[in-house]
Amino acid sequence: MRKNIVAGNWKMNKNFEEAEELIDNIMTALEDKELPENTLMILCPPFPYLEMCSEYSDDSYFAVGAQNVNENDKGAYTGEVSAEMLRSLEVDYCIVGHSERRAYYGETDAIVARKVDQLLKNDIRPIVCCGEVLEEREAGKQFDVVRRQITDGLFHLSAEQFGQVVIAYEPVWAIGTGKTATPQQAQEIHAFIRGLIAEKYGKAVADETSILYGGSCKPSNAKELFANPDVDGGLIGGASLKAEDFMGIALAF
Ligand code: 13P
Repeated sequence: MRKNIVAGNWKMNKNFEEAEELIDNIMTALEDKELPENTLMILCPPFPYLEMCSEYSDDSYFAVGAQNVNENDKGAYTGEVSAEMLRSLEVDYCIVGHSERRAYYGETDAIVARKVDQLLKNDIRPIVCCGEVLEEREAGKQFDVVRRQITDGLFHLSAEQFGQVVIAYEPVWAIGTGKTATPQQAQEIHAFIRGLIAEKYGKAVADETSILYGGSCKPSNAKELFANPDVDGGLIGGASLKAEDFMGIALAF
């Protein structure tokens, strides 16, 4: 059975002390209330806090993810971080192709594909983001955009490799805007994505793939989003920065 996942993308927020405080609060909340069955929590802090998060995760119930990785093995790429480095810090997940990276750092589908390869080579599960911008949605192009992102970023993988991938559908117009996709809009695209995977890899692989929703997800709307058959959780930005909100979402399954 595929996992329900609630992943917190902290983006570029929190200094070290604040990061420690947030983790402490999440751990206390997790000791107080167990996550629903078959639910995995993933924290994706900025690079400098990964090691600290990994240490905490040893005796807790969350996994640790990075927010980015370089597409090359190693070498003269000043300021970059490799998949091998992440692996050596016991990082198990990594976000790839986030719309902010596509928009501000020129991350193309071809680069996404190379990053995914690096991660899989190092036993790290990619959380691959896709989603359309507002103009594309208004022009009814959301299905074409998502098909292209998934096909070009992921469909070079073998079925076995694809089994390691988590997908996050994040409509760009919903990210940080307070404007959430309706449960119907989310379900429609999630079912479409699962259909694409089934066409390429077969129904069994599609049924095992967790597809997360991201974009202004909060405790007040998580329940109705997660109630959809093809929505297997969320990739949470703003609401993952407060333990209470993040736990509220994690308990919404
Ligand atoms: P918000 O939850 O702040 O809209 O961000 C979503 C997101 O981009 C997660 O990756």
